[in-house]
Amino acid sequence: MAIEVIPTGAALGAEVRGLDLSKPLTDDEFEAVQQAWYDHIVLLFRGQKVSDDDLVRFSKRFGELDIAPASATDMAGGQALSRPEIWIISNVVENGKPIGALGDKEAEWHTDMSYVAEPPMASVLYSLEIPSKGGDTSFANMYKALEDLPDDLRAAVENRIVNHDASTTSVGELRAGANAVLDVRTAPGAKHPAIRTHPATGGKALYLGRRLNGYLEGYSVEESEKLLDRLWAHCAKPEFSWTHKWQLGDLLIWDNRCAIHRRDSFDGSERRVMHRTQIKGDAPR
Ligand code: OGA
Ligand code: MN
Repeated sequence: MAIEVIPTGAALGAEVRGLDLSKPLTDDEFEAVQQAWYDHIVLLFRGQKVSDDDLVRFSKRFGELDIAPASATDMAGGQALSRPEIWIISNVVENGKPIGALGDKEAEWHTDMSYVAEPPMASVLYSLEIPSKGGDTSFANMYKALEDLPDDLRAAVENRIVNHDASTTSVGELRAGANAVLDVRTAPGAKHPAIRTHPATGGKALYLGRRLNGYLEGYSVEESEKLLDRLWAHCAKPEFSWTHKWQLGDLLIWDNRCAIHRRDSFDGSERRVMHRTQIKGDAPR
């Protein structure tokens, strides 16, 4: 069966048809997928039936895997129940312990694990159980956000460094062992250029991590707060984004180097279970 790539028509994202990811990809198939991924930033494969082994094998075609992030909840459950490369994202509680991270809350716009020196270039997310509504995941194209950035904002971030806070998760919970940030200038985390160049496509993208406790180095806290508020309001404009409504068996891969994402909250009395891998990346430059 031939591979078909069907763009969403929004600022990013495409569905790839004609592949069964429970089977190894041929080199030709992988090359087609990789090119579609560079072109569209987020790829959707529907109707997949993959085991954790399959998920890991598919993910490893793109590169070596990172171990899952530390969060308040995965310490309590998820990660311990699975293998270190698989991060369980779930609101399900078993025997008083969450089986995964992020619960049922809204996750604010962010890019994955940008608080480490070499953040994962990609994340792969596979849906095993989904609620009847809510829990949609949105993505925004950071090449386009940079292209459309007003001149004064562009000048304000050109050649600047952002500190990416490590203390909280994307749902705003303190990670296990982290202290609340009292001064964004001294938040723990990693420092990356506000504009990065994608090593494979050569494109330039805004790279801000997440709003909470972010700090634009070289400005006063007040100036940094104002600039970051404007930058995030710009990135969140609907013309840069696409929202994915999950079906069972959907598998997404996205590029953390040129996209941000967020998740809607959902009704906590319903179950949502997702398995995620993260593919190692370089230090942003
Ligand atoms: C992630 C994430 C969103 C979701 O996997 O990095 O933010 O839909 N998940 O659960
Ligand atoms: Mn995420």
